Amino acid sequence: MSTPTSSSNVGAPGDSEGAVPVLSRRRFLAGGAWAAGATAAAVSGYTLGSHQSDDILSDAPGVGQDTVSPYGSHQAGITTPLQSHASFLAFDLLPATTLDDRRRWLELLSDDIERLTTGRPALADPQPELASLPARLTITLGFGAGFFAAAILRSQRPDWLGPLPAFRHDELDTSVSGGDVLVQVCCDDPVTLSHARRMLIRDSTSFASLRWVQHGFQRARGVADGQTPRNLMGQVDGTSNPMPADPGFDDAIWHSGEPAWLAGGTALVLRRIRMRLSAWDGLSRDSKEATIGRRLSDGAPLTGGHEGDEPDLDARAPDGSSVIHPQAHVRLARVSDPKQRILRRGYNYEDGPVRDGAPEAGLLFVAAMADPTRQFVPVQRRLDEADLLNDWTRTVGSAVFAVPPGFMPGGYVGATLLT
Ligand code: HEM
Repeated sequence: MSTPTSSSNVGAPGDSEGAVPVLSRRRFLAGGAWAAGATAAAVSGYTLGSHQSDDILSDAPGVGQDTVSPYGSHQAGITTPLQSHASFLAFDLLPATTLDDRRRWLELLSDDIERLTTGRPALADPQPELASLPARLTITLGFGAGFFAAAILRSQRPDWLGPLPAFRHDELDTSVSGGDVLVQVCCDDPVTLSHARRMLIRDSTSFASLRWVQHGFQRARGVADGQTPRNLMGQVDGTSNPMPADPGFDDAIWHSGEPAWLAGGTALVLRRIRMRLSAWDGLSRDSKEATIGRRLSDGAPLTGGHEGDEPDLDARAPDGSSVIHPQAHVRLARVSDPKQRILRRGYNYEDGPVRDGAPEAGLLFVAAMADPTRQFVPVQRRLDEADLLNDWTRTVGSAVFAVPPGFMPGGYVGATLLT
């Protein structure tokens, strides 16, 4: 698998505002997950391999100064290899917010994106020093159905944008579902992330109210670089994920056709899936592995081999039973048509312990795809019907956003819709 090429420039336009030294520019292309092939999770590891991300600005060794360019045909933060920390902020537009207000807000947020992701303070930043180590900060914006409520925007809403159909195992809580605008903030450093989050909220309050915030995490950078991440059930999670160089990737992930403003954008599905970890802990190792269809030790299919090997769904045990259980998660989640694949980029979450000491923990399932009705919904229906995992998980939050294409210097995220 080759490292995808970049079509973007590096860094931000010159801007001397603020007290932070301008980063020197060094082209850096490291080996790692993207380059290592399919077994490395597409979004694990730290080689920046997305279209817009194979350039890292770095002044000196140190992950704090690594940046991901905010520019490109797609927004950063979709194919960017996972950072260690993430916050998802959902906003609701204030009543009577006009089209001009929306535009001004997006221009302001895009200015924050340009500055903060390149190690420069936000405008009138009260703590400019906290912006100086971007640590691969990416900020990605998305629009929920409510963003299109204005009569003039209604015809621009993609058909698939809105609440997902109800699923049997959903126990949705509106306080972590929906939202008119999503701001996804990912970073390798929690302090930089906290500062960016605060600036983005500060610059939003004239236009929108905060609906919910959800935080997620992966391994700290440097701990398991190049390895596929693990979720809180202990499973290797992210192995069979499409890679940008795979045939059909662009068709599966990036929007094309109508509405035309979204070309080069994508749909983002976010599901907050709670895990019953205390109950899961009591399950035997064999049962845990049967639930997924892969080994806990290294993520290899139960039909043998290595993590990157394809599961053999027809394999039979000597007693005639399927080696991979008929209701195993990987069997039901699999699709044969490459255009139906989704790009998973989830984060673990833990907001507990709560009440009886059990953790309020699970997976912020985050996936990008061209069309959730065609891609996410059929898979989720199969999982909802029969997935063995359903005994140990409940989806408690759900939201879908249209993620506009990327932008270039002088532009802003959402310009294709609002200009
Ligand atoms: C807490 C909930 C979930 C957990 C713990 C979980 C865990 C896993 C694990 C361990 C794998 C195997 C390794 C890999 O290929 O990544 C996997 C595969 C997969 N999961 Fe999930 N998953 C969850 C929810 C979902 C949901 C909601 C969907 C989509 C509706 C989904 C779609 C997939 C897909 C498409 C694959 C790859 C299947 C293949 O092609 O082999 N998962 N998941």
